[in-house]
Amino acid sequence: MSVATATAHPNIALVKYWGKRDTALNLPAVPSLSLTLDGFSTTTRVHWGVDVDKVYLQGRPADEDTRRKVLAALDRLDPARPPVRVDSLNDFPAGAGLASSSSGFAALVVAAAAAAERDLPRPELSVHARRGSGSACRSLWGGFVRWNLGESPDGSDSHGEPVAPADHWEVAMVVAIVSGDKKDVASTAGMETSRLTSAYYPAWVAQGPARVAAGVAAVQARDLRALGEQMEASTFEMHAVMHTTQPAILYWKPATVACLHAVRGLRASGTLAYATMDAGPNVKVLCGRADAEAVAEALRAYVSDVRIALPGGAPTVVRG
Ligand code: PMV
Repeated sequence: MSVATATAHPNIALVKYWGKRDTALNLPAVPSLSLTLDGFSTTTRVHWGVDVDKVYLQGRPADEDTRRKVLAALDRLDPARPPVRVDSLNDFPAGAGLASSSSGFAALVVAAAAAAERDLPRPELSVHARRGSGSACRSLWGGFVRWNLGESPDGSDSHGEPVAPADHWEVAMVVAIVSGDKKDVASTAGMETSRLTSAYYPAWVAQGPARVAAGVAAVQARDLRALGEQMEASTFEMHAVMHTTQPAILYWKPATVACLHAVRGLRASGTLAYATMDAGPNVKVLCGRADAEAVAEALRAYVSDVRIALPGGAPTVVRG
């Protein structure tokens, strides 16, 4: 088979990644912990052996930067590769802090390896995905996934590692899409500016391992309060680093803050719900599955597009 199509789900960090210790290899300064989501997906078809390289996103030729990153990922998979055609479709807004790069690079490497009939171990695929976009290394597994720092200088041991499968725990992530617009500061550029200019960056890096350890323990114990507290602490610490970067990186919109207050209101009235935001204005709320509809309804007072996602599975190869 020289053609394969794979579908992968994005993941949302419960304990955040922000900052690289090696920009060339895309190695993180902090470990992280994520939840893979069903409901959203990227489907990518890779056809090895066409006349000339072609990369299409949403049915249109990809922009130069994306095209370069996609082809570089394929060059790393096979330095002697033939020309390739890549077609990738997202069923949710790309580049808006909804982790489209995570599902994008996970689907790409899985489809590319399948099309080349290479049965690579999943950690190796995760390393390939990481080189394309850091957070993508966590989308090679479903459910709860830890991205370890690793120690090897070549980065071969910095990849995702499954913590618990999607059916481990009946939680939901309610996603309030404040804006589907492309973010104005890309995560790679933002992280690097934070490392160079935020006085809070060293403290951020120092606290990462303890937050991940506490987050993993909370997942294993199915303790929503403990996990939610770690997630919100990590989120506000990351955004404090963003806000103290020079020039300040401010992804939040007024509706972002309105959703944060709504989540606090839900908690005050007894619903366990916790908020997180990434490199964009959208708010994702972790709660029990049974509370998801009530949480979504509370957020709809401020944001019209609110969706409920459940824990999702690993990438699948859907057809040739
Ligand atoms: O992997 P990137 O370059 O898309 O960076 C993702 C960074 C955050 O989404 C803000 C946090 C995370 O851990 O996913």
